Amino acid sequence: MTGPATGATAFRGEILHFTGDPALEGPAAVHHHEDGLLVVSNGRVADCGDAQALLPTLAEGTAVVDHRGKWILPGFVDTHVHYSQTDIIASYGEQLLDWLERFTFPAERSFADPQHAREVADFFLAEALKNGTTTAAVFATVHPESVDAFFAAASARNLRMAAGKVLMDRNCPEFLRDTPESGYEDSKALIARWHGTGRLSYAVTPRFAPTSSERQLELAGRLLDDHPGVLLQSHVAENVGEVQWVAELFPWARSYLDVYDRYGMLRRGAVFAHCIHLDDANRRRMAATGAAMSFCATSNLFLGSGLFDLEAARGAGAVVGIGTDVGGGTAFSLLRTLNESYKVLQMRGQRLPAVEGFYLITLGGARALALDAHIGNFERGKEADFVVLDPASTPLRARRSRLAQDCDERLFMLMMLGDDRAVHATYVMGEPIYRA
Ligand code: GUN
Ligand code: ZN
Repeated sequence: MTGPATGATAFRGEILHFTGDPALEGPAAVHHHEDGLLVVSNGRVADCGDAQALLPTLAEGTAVVDHRGKWILPGFVDTHVHYSQTDIIASYGEQLLDWLERFTFPAERSFADPQHAREVADFFLAEALKNGTTTAAVFATVHPESVDAFFAAASARNLRMAAGKVLMDRNCPEFLRDTPESGYEDSKALIARWHGTGRLSYAVTPRFAPTSSERQLELAGRLLDDHPGVLLQSHVAENVGEVQWVAELFPWARSYLDVYDRYGMLRRGAVFAHCIHLDDANRRRMAATGAAMSFCATSNLFLGSGLFDLEAARGAGAVVGIGTDVGGGTAFSLLRTLNESYKVLQMRGQRLPAVEGFYLITLGGARALALDAHIGNFERGKEADFVVLDPASTPLRARRSRLAQDCDERLFMLMMLGDDRAVHATYVMGEPIYRA
């Protein structure tokens, strides 16, 4: 066995990652090394396994960073978030459509100013990294400058991020409106400028069906056809009033999802937030096309939207990831989001074991964004974005963790009690980018 190239660094700790969905494939998909070693070379995973087996194979002089007593997991993937709503997180008292009018649209107006956009983008990324999130699918605003600001900030940190300019040409304030043509041209220019630059992906971003004309949706579909590999992000079936409105705006559509289907938006690399008020035919259609669902528990509870049905999504074979949906969501932390996901599913009589939760925020998220060739687990050659979690980050957690009987119980404690304080360090391409 040949060791990795010199210049490699190894990280020792309790390792957990996935090569498949444990809910479908069982324990074979779960890779757990109680005393594990993650070997990184040139920013990529060179090896991963038991420390006792791998330590003797390391090239002489390989540095070993000792994270024993802590967990090492792939960086978390947030499949749905609005960086432009950072400052309206926790805005009181409304459900979706009123919340958009009262808080969201006024806040998004400020992103016409590139300096404001850059300041918020820097804050947002610092907050994400502090929470262990290394990749996200991000809504900017209608302003192309807001995308430039976000991608410049992500690029400066060498992050794998997806983002896009919101397309919105009706049913919104005049000051946030584009046109089918300007939205198309601006998106096309942004794709040329940013998609595939370093680790960045562009996501065509029609906000949701009610704020786009049919012409705009048609041109959004054209952008996807003309630029293979570009992602798509939108919202679907979040709120009962919204679903009713879509039925009035698109009387020819069989369902809300059918509007997106008509314009060719259901495909691998397309991610739709919420997916609450869907039927099984919709779910099967998403599964058949490879379009993914983003389960946004804190947002769905905060805005009173409804309870996501994970069992039905899985039963239909749909790809599922987890989204924080800040600022409708109330936490940047995917650990806190898993806590709320667990409770949403309890209300539906469903279960979320910790391994399935951690799958959803790592490989599941990477699959939802069609980025699993690059990130999501510790297979050789993947980009070494990872998070180091401290199970004893507070006295209560240390106490609860000591009492845990097995690995599943220790992980469940992390999932239910964890937040940014549980994140000891975050690494991007093998380099530390955040330390507690
Ligand atoms: N639907 C359309 N726009 C939005 C948004 O900004 N947040 C949420 N949660 N749902 C939406
Ligand atoms: Zn959203």
